[in-house]
Amino acid sequence: MTTTPGRFLSLEGGEGAGKSTQMRALSAALRARGHDVVETREPGGSAGAEAIRRLLLEGAADRWTARTEAMLFAAARADHVARTIRPALAAGRWVLTDRFLDSSLAYQGGADSIGADQIRALHAIGSEGLLPDRTLLLTLPLAEATARAAARDAGHSDRFGARDAGYHQRVADAFLALAHAAPARFRIVDATGPAERVTERLLAAIDDPA
Ligand code: TMP
Repeated sequence: MTTTPGRFLSLEGGEGAGKSTQMRALSAALRARGHDVVETREPGGSAGAEAIRRLLLEGAADRWTARTEAMLFAAARADHVARTIRPALAAGRWVLTDRFLDSSLAYQGGADSIGADQIRALHAIGSEGLLPDRTLLLTLPLAEATARAAARDAGHSDRFGARDAGYHQRVADAFLALAHAAPARFRIVDATGPAERVTERLLAAIDDPA
């Protein structure tokens, strides 16, 4: 029996980029190729991190300060890494996560102005700096993403639902800047058009050598 080495992949993007649909399609496609895939998400992905997720997503919009939020995301990530991601990679499995560190860099670090250095410092403490082997950034024009997110969230918005267009633009800009600063790890993937085409683009971006 051959051993497939584990690989760590993250899927990133703003709200409404189609991450959930693509997570399912991509996991199925990778499993069809014979990989043992762990499908996970942030905030969450382990029992402790899911408990922190509830603290983050439920309640009033002003429940936490931006700094407290950044630390809660980092704490959730630390548990997710220690309890789910590292054990899976050590066992030779592929890990596909819906959001990871780059979400904290784009939302808290960029849009909330905490700064990338401080977010990276929290990540060094919490998760010993673990980075994905490949990060897939789904991009969509903001108007289209907003329309998709509104249709999806009708009637059940979380604490972050009320952010304005300026905020989402800052998130999108921060994601693109991160991708351009780390071209070996990132691939920018166009999320427009039929979902099947987007999945094909994602698979090509995974196959693309560093
Ligand atoms: P979701 O839309 O993928 O379910 O993510 C939940 C929200 O949490 C979304 O508004 C993005 C936000 N988020 C951060 O602000 N920082 C993070 O580190 C993560 C993982 C998510």
